[in-house]
Amino acid sequence: MTAGTIRFVLNGEVIETIVTDPTRTVLQFLREDLRLTGTKEGCAEGDCGACTVVVVEVDSSGDGVEARTINSCIQFLPTLDGKELITVEGLRGEDGALHPVQQALVDEHGSQCGFCTPGFVMSLYELYRNNPKPTRREIDDALSGNLCRCTGYRPIVAAAQKMAGEGDNWDAAAHSKTLREIARDENLGIDCGDSDFYAPKDIVTFAKLYGKYPDATILAGGTDIGLWVTKQHRDLGTIIYSGKVAEMLDVEVTGTHLEIGAAVTLTNAIPALLEQYPGLTEMFQRYASPPIRNAGTLGGNIANGSPIGDSMPALMVVGASLVLQRGFSERELSLDKFYHDYQVNDLQPGEFLARIRVPLAEDGVIVSSQKWSKRFDQDISAVCTAYRLRLDGDKVANFRMACGGLAATVQRAERCEAAVTGATWNEATIEAACKALAEDFTPITDMRASADFRLVAVQNLLRRFWLETQGEVETTVYNYGR
Ligand SMILES: Cc1cc2nc3c(=O)[nH]c(=O)nc-3n(C[C@H](O)[C@H](O)[C@H](O)COP(=O)(O)OP(=O)(O)OC[C@H]3O[C@@H](n4cnc5c(N)ncnc54)[C@H](O)[C@@H]3O)c2cc1C
Ligand code: FES
Ligand code: FES
Repeated sequence: MTAGTIRFVLNGEVIETIVTDPTRTVLQFLREDLRLTGTKEGCAEGDCGACTVVVVEVDSSGDGVEARTINSCIQFLPTLDGKELITVEGLRGEDGALHPVQQALVDEHGSQCGFCTPGFVMSLYELYRNNPKPTRREIDDALSGNLCRCTGYRPIVAAAQKMAGEGDNWDAAAHSKTLREIARDENLGIDCGDSDFYAPKDIVTFAKLYGKYPDATILAGGTDIGLWVTKQHRDLGTIIYSGKVAEMLDVEVTGTHLEIGAAVTLTNAIPALLEQYPGLTEMFQRYASPPIRNAGTLGGNIANGSPIGDSMPALMVVGASLVLQRGFSERELSLDKFYHDYQVNDLQPGEFLARIRVPLAEDGVIVSSQKWSKRFDQDISAVCTAYRLRLDGDKVANFRMACGGLAATVQRAERCEAAVTGATWNEATIEAACKALAEDFTPITDMRASADFRLVAVQNLLRRFWLETQGEVETTVYNYGR
């Protein structure tokens, strides 16, 4: 291959292309360079789903493949190297017949102006590939990253229910074979003047590169970084991509911990976390949408350090720590010591997040997390809370609570914790804890919620947690009002 060239499969054909700008998005490449205009641009920030495409990769077992949606508007082109891309143009059969997903949408009248339709087709295609008999809840979840402003969702859901019966000619082994054939033996490095792109395959090379270029941008899933380019037009300088680093893509269970590589996608990290902590189900179901979770990583969420990042309150209360690496040295830091101020963390120049260490669940400990946002699906939290409770009879042996959206960083609610620990687990204690929350935080007003609202919401969420422990509230709510 010529220097600066990436190779991937596009709708069944292996193609090579020279990269001159590493932040060119997959969507720009499809629409502007290849004139494949079926994939649409709506928001250019991962919210509307008009740009949804499917990426196929060898799965973590190394034997099979997994097909996952992503938002092509915020995915940078060189991250496709060695992968397979399927767009709406690639779904028709060889005889020109519509794919069962497309046919079901036609039959159920699931399209009007059609602008959103290719995106819905690709989200339904992912569902069809991975879950041929979805429940209504699974359909809703699969479509939570797609917006339609004219058809309404009922016929689209009907199409999702109908498509399941029909087979297509998918041959997983053939896809896997092609992906193996195009796999790159060497590390990818593209020299684009001031904005070089590196995709090392092992952590030693990654650490060396970041040591050499400590001002480089580490790119994981790009679901935050993509917007720095499409919305803020920021220059990223040198980019080092973590998505190919084998050691950062592993989820391991040791005797005491889950070790989650910093480049593991949310889609792959969440099942391991929920196996330990099922009380986090609702929060993670409402975390963004499938295409964002398929690209975005747990490591990116933590490193980005947004005060309204959803994973951190839960990780803080369960006592997660971060393994930070610089060169060949590693250190471990508790997550609740990682953030110093708004977007300021403890990482030193050349140091990066290698993996997240999450203690395994303990018997008799209740863990839960709650998210409040204006929409149920695909919305950023106004506040997000998490709790870890150990009772000894009716007394609280240990209580931890962490909150997002109330301060410049996600933080433990220390006064509230002190008010609860050692007390009787009853309504009076919860009311005292709610008062203490007002001393723990001085929230701000912004477009998501006012300061007063935030405080009241978090106090009510704590009351709800207490009711959950009394069996008076379902911990996982799927009531969409439908
Ligand atoms: C439409 C939309 C919806 C979203 N919804 C939610 C939501 O509901 N809840 C939520 O919490 N977030 C949400 N997000 C934000 C985002 O998806 C998450 O923060 C995600 O986890 C970021 O991961 P990433 O891999 O995409 O990070 P990237 O964008 O690749 O990187 C984010 C930051 O982390 C740094 N970084 C990445 N890896 C490392 C590493 N190994 N070491 C050091 N630094 C590193 C990057 O340099 C960058 O500063 C949403 C985003 C979008 C676009
Ligand atoms: S264009 Fe809206 S999600 Fe990509
Ligand atoms: S059919 Fe018009 S936006 Fe969905």
